[in-house]
Amino acid sequence: MKYIVANWKAHFNLEELHAWIHEFSTLPLNKLVDEVEIIICPPYPFLHLINEKLYHSTIKIGSQDVSSLEPGAYTGEVVAESLIGIVDYAIVGHSERRSHFSESEEVIAKKCDRALKNHIRPILCVRNNSDVIYPSARLVAFEPVEAIGTDSNMPIEEVLKIRALLTLGAEQKFLYGGSVQQDNATEYLSSLDIDGVLVGGASLKPQELFSIALAAKV
Ligand code: PGA
Repeated sequence: MKYIVANWKAHFNLEELHAWIHEFSTLPLNKLVDEVEIIICPPYPFLHLINEKLYHSTIKIGSQDVSSLEPGAYTGEVVAESLIGIVDYAIVGHSERRSHFSESEEVIAKKCDRALKNHIRPILCVRNNSDVIYPSARLVAFEPVEAIGTDSNMPIEEVLKIRALLTLGAEQKFLYGGSVQQDNATEYLSSLDIDGVLVGGASLKPQELFSIALAAKV
């Protein structure tokens, strides 16, 4: 099984969301069944709609974050309990959250734990081999900051060198992220040492996301 995580970041309004769903729904998703899992991670307000409209065995839903806190008086926070039944996965520790929102390792560790405790599988993003890999992470996405949103994806040889330096548990999957597009996805997805890719910009285009997922088929 290969994992394709679509991280939409802070993009799309409701109209654009409907257009995306409409176009994506016309694609032959059945070609991917049993081989590829596409995990769509939209902004929070769209989670429920995606869940309702895109029901397909090859599609899973993820949030882009989850609170490190337990349910309580925390205006604006989205706790893991609120996501149960809506998402299967939650992205945790993305470099944009580490830098723009000053997320510490302590907070990231709590987020991973809170998600897993509520049966949500954490997709932990690490920027290099110095970032901590928590045992509760289920997918570990290596995303070098210089490769994100730049069209300069890291060559696979370098990705595999970093992978060799990471200590992953038997159940933890390894993903690469950073300017993955339909033109370079095969390079990563054909490697037995890479379980999937995390896709930002290219996932905003339904056809391109689908092409990347097709590249994951053996
Ligand atoms: P990108 O983003 O594919 O646009 O480089 C990847 C990410 O930051 O998750």
